[in-house]
Amino acid sequence: MNRELAPLLEVRGLTRRFGERNVFDKVSFALSRGEIVSLVGPSGCGKSTLLRAVAGLDRTATGTVLIDGVPLLAPSPRVGMIFQEPRLLPWLSVADNIAFAAGPHAGDDPRVDALLAEVGLAGVRDALPKQLSGGMAQRVALARGLFNEPELLLLDEPFSAVDAITRARLQQLLLALKHARGTTVLLVTHDLDEALSLSDRVLLLSPAGVGSPSRIARELPIALQRPRNPRDASLDALREVLLEM
Ligand SMILES: Nc1ncnc2c1ncn2[C@@H]1O[C@H](COP(=O)(O)OP(=O)(O)OP(=O)(O)O)[C@@H](O)[C@H]1O
Ligand SMILES: [Mg+2]
Repeated sequence: MNRELAPLLEVRGLTRRFGERNVFDKVSFALSRGEIVSLVGPSGCGKSTLLRAVAGLDRTATGTVLIDGVPLLAPSPRVGMIFQEPRLLPWLSVADNIAFAAGPHAGDDPRVDALLAEVGLAGVRDALPKQLSGGMAQRVALARGLFNEPELLLLDEPFSAVDAITRARLQQLLLALKHARGTTVLLVTHDLDEALSLSDRVLLLSPAGVGSPSRIARELPIALQRPRNPRDASLDALREVLLEM
């Protein structure tokens, strides 16, 4: 098969049980190379659990996750993960945090300064995490997530803990990083406007109830160029569809 056309990520029949309860059941979807796809759904429907399973962090999930057709059985440098909180190690400098995948004191790695410049943080390489604002810390987390040059970046509500202006700046940064690197992005968000302004497609998960695991209830393609005007009439229509669901 033509590598450019084959999906970068393919999720087949992914299922996760907690005790007697299936949180989600036989979830399947695929991401093409370079796509930005958002995963939205009500609180508790299993978005974070699903993302961890896609990252290879959850050995008890069943089903198949393929990266470029190869099963992902454990965390891989091809897949980067970014969480809601920056999760920086407080005793390590910014540079050491970014390069942590190469070792606990690998901050001299030549990739670090380039990444710091890319995320707009040149000059803070020796700072400790406690000296950073929330937005700066999340930029460091982005740089750390990109250190291994992952082909797929998974983000779990990455901008929900910062103020609105910082969030808008971080969203623009994510788009710029994605365009510069061609990274494929799967973004969990509860912010419909974030999903509508950033994604090529939105996957909507249904609520998980007792005896009714969540599933992908709807898939909405968004064929609008970026940057998008949040007041675009076609985005209003899509927002209505998502809110109704
Ligand atoms: N380790 C666990 N043991 C038992 N149940 C769990 C565990 N982790 C998550 N759950 C349950 O699985 C369901 C899905 O949780 P998850 O955190 O994935 O939801 P979410 O969609 O990310 O929610 P939110 O939008 O609030 O972040 C919830 O009902 C949660 O209580
Ligand atoms: Mg969550």
